[in-house]
Amino acid sequence: MTKSAARQYGTERVTDLAHALQCAELAADAGADEELILACLLHDVGRYAVAQEEIGDTLEQVTPRAGKARGHHEAGADLIQPYVPERVAFLVRSHADAKRYLCASEPGYYATLSKGSKHTLTFQGGIMPAEEAVSAATRPWWPDALRLRRWDDQAKLVGKPTRDLAAWEPLLRKYFDAPRASA
Ligand SMILES: [Fe+2]
Repeated sequence: MTKSAARQYGTERVTDLAHALQCAELAADAGADEELILACLLHDVGRYAVAQEEIGDTLEQVTPRAGKARGHHEAGADLIQPYVPERVAFLVRSHADAKRYLCASEPGYYATLSKGSKHTLTFQGGIMPAEEAVSAATRPWWPDALRLRRWDDQAKLVGKPTRDLAAWEPLLRKYFDAPRASA
């Protein structure tokens, strides 16, 4: 993560690593539990830890990718699923849908999105149709998915101090030293 996330976060103004650390910090400051913090830290892991040709919603692309490409949220959730509780994988998988949902349900939300987030929305299914939004809101852990999404949106401040990645090492090791027995 230190190496692959140190690159610039697409068209955003902070690195992937700074973005992840700010997102986790916002969650911790808000008193989020360990699983939610972990999901915040790793929510974009599919952006930098997966081969880019497999990703269908990069900040850099301008047209939809053909073939098997899937969203970075799907790729990231699949990557961590063997190691983390179901809720953490769900939250990572849901962070694009949470954006689509908030665009549909909260007036003014779309306007607050960064240029990059507006751009990738087009490759993530666009603003959620009303019927899908009603169903999404019934998903387990949905309120947590929305909390993650709001921290995600805020975690793009240049130069904002946070604890460093090493501070989260015990948390990461707790889950990633070995796959879950049931996975
Ligand atoms: Fe993000």
